Amino acid sequence: MVKLTDAEQAMLDGQAGAATSKAMELLIRYADALGAERFVETNNVAGVPGSAPQWVKDHYAADGGDYRAVFSRFDLDSDEVVDVPRMNAFSCHLQGGMDPALWQEQGMSADAHANFVSDEAEVAAHGIQILKTCTPYLAGNVPVMGEHCAWMESSAVVFANSVIGARTNCEGRESTSAAMLAKRIPDWGFHRDDFRKGQHRVSVEMPVDSIFEWGMLGYFVGDVVQDTIPVITGDISNPSLIRHKHFGAAAASSGGVEMYHMVGITPEAPSVEHAFGGAARGEHFVYDAAARRRIYETLNSVGQSEDVDYVMLGCPHYSIEQIAQAAALIEGRKVHENCALWIFTSRAVKATADANGYTRILRDAGAYLMTDTCSAISQAVPKGTKVAALDSAKQVHYLPAMMGIEGWYGTTAECIDAACTGKWKGKLA
Ligand code: F3S
Repeated sequence: MVKLTDAEQAMLDGQAGAATSKAMELLIRYADALGAERFVETNNVAGVPGSAPQWVKDHYAADGGDYRAVFSRFDLDSDEVVDVPRMNAFSCHLQGGMDPALWQEQGMSADAHANFVSDEAEVAAHGIQILKTCTPYLAGNVPVMGEHCAWMESSAVVFANSVIGARTNCEGRESTSAAMLAKRIPDWGFHRDDFRKGQHRVSVEMPVDSIFEWGMLGYFVGDVVQDTIPVITGDISNPSLIRHKHFGAAAASSGGVEMYHMVGITPEAPSVEHAFGGAARGEHFVYDAAARRRIYETLNSVGQSEDVDYVMLGCPHYSIEQIAQAAALIEGRKVHENCALWIFTSRAVKATADANGYTRILRDAGAYLMTDTCSAISQAVPKGTKVAALDSAKQVHYLPAMMGIEGWYGTTAECIDAACTGKWKGKLA
């Protein structure tokens, strides 16, 4: 049984209001299911609090069918509807269901958009930051090393644990919404030192020097280690933020990697010995030319037709550096009449892209720079899409399967060339 401090007992007893009491009830059930003995305090929570499509609200029609009903009954799993105050923790809203301006281009209905606007007003009124991105660390929420967080979104969780050295499990909607009120999360998993040790070793025996290559390496690592912690050594020059972003997202997709160590690169791996921390060393995997080719063929196994009608970039949401690169690649060209190019990012990064003129360059070429969501989350692709081209191993893992379409994986330049020609010409160099 989890032990409560006096402050936690007071919250459970209702001294901080009915909603926080319900939040503590949920967190205690969660902690007991995990076997956690105590809570850690957190002041950094990222989730999707209270947002819901209309059908969810309709499900709670007897409770009022509004934000209050959804937050109480769904998020807090409460048997009664309670008033929901402003959140107590620093809280952020991750990606949502549509672009706030380009929702019609995404095929959303006016009713769905009206519901989106109403939910967003509620989220803001409850003191939750409208980041609307899967990359909160690029949009105003960068935890520090050792900081206890409660984050959803697998690509953000693996980045926070591995690259920053912050501490979070891959939380769910219910636990993050409760943590926003109670500022607590069970002291379990990645919050504890002994859970953060490496378990298997991966030796990289060939150069990895672009996001395309880092995406394939990540996909390989997730495939071989599944949901354990890899210690990666070898031919890895210091990867940039965007390479980590694509690597971690891919590893979290093909496996369930929530933390990795790169020896000499990530903060908890100054040496192989330190990364394993005395834990038993499991298997030793090798990433070489044959493994690289196998992963490339796997990622392209759902591509048949060379006639590409949709190119999606921005999974995880593009950084400003990536948008600048995409704008440079397409400037002076046009998206082919049989194709569409949608690029996804956060609102914060788009504001910079607007100021730098990248949004205009992309629009002049016939592309859209969209925010808040992506095709996998919104299940929105251009009408009639049959074949997509993607520069994200994560997105090619999910989107074709979700939408019943074909998918190609390649470099950003190959994808933009496909958008401008309507033809897939990617190949492994
Ligand atoms: Fe982000 Fe969508 Fe990819 S939410 S990580 S762009 S699947």
